Amino acid sequence: MPIVAYGAAVLKQKAAPIEADYTALEALISNMWETMYAAHGVGLAAPQVGLGIRLFVIDTAPFAADDSLSEDERQELEGFKEVFINAQILDETGEAWDFNEGCLSIPDVREDVLRNESIRIQYWDENFQEHTRSFNGLIARVIQHEYDHIEGILFTDKLSPLKKRLIKRKLTAISQGKINPEYPMRFPQMKRKR
Ligand code: NI
Repeated sequence: MPIVAYGAAVLKQKAAPIEADYTALEALISNMWETMYAAHGVGLAAPQVGLGIRLFVIDTAPFAADDSLSEDERQELEGFKEVFINAQILDETGEAWDFNEGCLSIPDVREDVLRNESIRIQYWDENFQEHTRSFNGLIARVIQHEYDHIEGILFTDKLSPLKKRLIKRKLTAISQGKINPEYPMRFPQMKRKR
């Protein structure tokens, strides 16, 4: 599936919950995995493929290659692959820390983003089993980023006014399709050829 680029309205909207009988849910989730892996992402939210629904997928295995992490952390990242449906973050705790984030909808833009260390989240998996779990560190970070997508928030919304000004031209270029991404994308403001 083409990934929707920065500037699309669907990325700015709060997504809606879905029911277990949502049309072709299994196929959609499988397409989202395929799309995410093809783009070398660690997470992908439904709004990024043009659907305003509360669904995102995460596989943190690529982060496990970071040898500055402990063996335990690496094993946890290696094994974390999960589908989140109708997620609600119940609370966020711990100290805020900076991490250099990127987003498949905003190619070639990376900035440090402050987020809390720990979260508690309620969600349903692909079999519509309910879970309430706590996460911290990098896994919490990826969940927070994807969760923001279903709330209509992008990581660039969280930057300081100065940083926002510095990347404004880049963001405009992305929304107009004046970039060459390494994976298929859909650009909101690209003029159609007649
Ligand atoms: Ni993103």
